[in-house]
Order: sequence, then C-alpha cells, then structure tokens
Amino acid sequence: MEQTDILQEIQGIQQQALDVLQAVEDEKALEAWRVSHLGRSSAVMQVFSQISKVPAELRPQVGQEANKVKVALEDAFQQKSDGIKQAALEHTLKSDVLDVTMPGRRPLRSGIHPANQTLRKIYKIFGDMGFQVYRSREVETDAFTFEYLNMPPYHPARDMWDTFYTTEEDVVLRTHTSPGQIHVMRENAPEPVRAILPGMCYRYEQISARSEIQFNQVELIAIGKDITFGDLKGTLQDFVNRLFAREVRTRFRPNHFPFTEPSAEMDVECFVCGGQGCPVCKHAGWLEILGCGMVHPVVMQNGGYDPNVYTGFAAGMGPERITMLLNKIEDIRYFWSNDIRFLEQF
Ligand code: PHE
Repeated sequence: MEQTDILQEIQGIQQQALDVLQAVEDEKALEAWRVSHLGRSSAVMQVFSQISKVPAELRPQVGQEANKVKVALEDAFQQKSDGIKQAALEHTLKSDVLDVTMPGRRPLRSGIHPANQTLRKIYKIFGDMGFQVYRSREVETDAFTFEYLNMPPYHPARDMWDTFYTTEEDVVLRTHTSPGQIHVMRENAPEPVRAILPGMCYRYEQISARSEIQFNQVELIAIGKDITFGDLKGTLQDFVNRLFAREVRTRFRPNHFPFTEPSAEMDVECFVCGGQGCPVCKHAGWLEILGCGMVHPVVMQNGGYDPNVYTGFAAGMGPERITMLLNKIEDIRYFWSNDIRFLEQF
C-alpha cells in the first residue's frame, strides 16, 4: 500500500466519524457513536491492531496519524458530551423557570385555639365598655371559692359545684371564676370597679359531650353607687349584640346563686332556628348562655364595700359553650383533645 493511501484513509476515518457525530443529539446516540467510532472494532482501532501489516518504514507515521485521529475523536466526543449535558441543563432551567404569577404555597402556621378566639372577642367587647381584665388564681382557698361567696361550710348550695380538693386542707381547684369577685373587690374597695376575670375552672365531673373537668369561664363584675338590675341587663344585651354582631333577642329567667340576689340566667334566641325550635336549642327556641345577678350584700361586705352604699352586678359565662353554640360543635371534649382536624377548622 502507498504511504499516501494509508494516510488518506486514516484522514477519511476521522472525517467520516465527525460527520456522523454532527447528527448526534442525545446521550444514547452519543454512546452508540462512541462504540462504533472509538470502540475496539472501530476503524481507527483497527489501524492499531493491523499495524503489523503495514510496511515497517511506514509504521511510525501511520501510528502517529492514527493516534492523532483517535485523540481528535476523543476530544470531539468530550465536546459533544459536554454540549448535550449543557443543553439538557438549559432545558430544565427553562422549563422550571419561576412563574411569578403563580399563587404561592402557604407555609403551615399555628392558629389560635377556638376557645381563645372567643375569649379574645369577649375581652375586646368588655374592654371597649371600660372593663379591666383581671387574672385570679386557679388554686383557691375554700374561703374564696365558697365562704366569702355566701356559702358557709356544709351549705347545701356547695353541691352545685363538684370540687377537686387538694391534699392541702381548705385548698381547692376553683370550680368557677367567682372567687375572683372577692379579689377584685378587696383590691379596689371603696372605689367603683368594672372588671372581667377570665380563666380555667375545674370540676370533678364525669367527662361527657356536655361537661369537661376543665373549662374556661369569664367572670364579670361591676361595683359602684346606684348600679341597678337595669344596668346588668343593658350591659349583657349590648355584649351579646356585639358578640353575635347583630341585634339578638334575649330573656332573663329567675334562677338561684348564693352570691347574687336576685339571680338570673340569660338566654339568647336560638340562632339556628330563630326561635322556632330545633335540635340545637332542644326545641326550646332559646339557648342559655350565662348566669348573673346583683351582688349579694353579704358578698359585697366580704369584698370590703358597704352594702348600704354600694351595689353591683356579676355574671359568669363559659366561652367554650358560647363557641359550641356559635359553631354548632356538639362535643365539648374536642376543645382539649388537641385533634388537629378539629383545630384546623378555626
Ligand atoms: N359562678 C356561677 C357558675 O359557675 C356563674 C355566676 C357568676 C352566676 C356570677 C352569677 C354571678 O355557675
């Protein structure tokens, strides 16, 4: 074979391989190209394995030429490979491009417990009416829970509250927020005062859909000169109007509490049936929402006020109960079971 023939042939190998490579567009085709143009049985590799058949004097030059081709093809392969990878990357970047008009994903946030939401509404309303918010202790003495509230030891009315006693004599978990009335009065007497007292209460009761051993109450107290039952009714009527954000029909039913006289319970017209009667109001047309009354003279005195000079009113309500009525929640146990499926709805 002529020297030029062989060298031309080797050149041809390179040109032909590069022509084919031009058309290659993906990794798979590139790999196929590598196998057939740089693999063991590729033309260029054949030159090396057949080199012994070349006349001895031509071998160095043929070897060098073949090697150049091999290096050139390897370079071309690398370039092509880089190009394909770059193109793939650009494609992903382009298709993943940020669409700023798309609505964002809302990060998971905590929320405010439904009982606390109602409590906050209550604070806001009474705050607007000029009531201060007081905190009173949850672990109370028997004296504040009962005695100062006109229930001496063995008074039968104590049975209205199933009490958790502690190992400490005369120390109980408060069964209602009413002990706070005495604290507020003693702190302010003889000045007039308007306050609400929110907080946890505890009752030794069978837990059921309607009663929990732990729940919130909000106590309301106003002491001053010439405060009348009319003021009580007006204040509470205004309160429910603001709470339900409309004019609500109410009624006051006579009731008994040892610490108020006269005492009443306030009902609001059932907002599910509008007073027609339905399962929510148990066909009464009315929903009981709080207990109230005029502060009893004995309690007034225990609070440090002269009952001949001062009068006042008090009320106690359960925010969980109000939340249940507002949202038609049928089981009070949801409030403390910490079930996210319940809590998420508020
Ligand atoms: N403390 C009473 C209860 O727990 C409610 C109440 C408060 C009634 C203030 C009258 C006045 O049932």
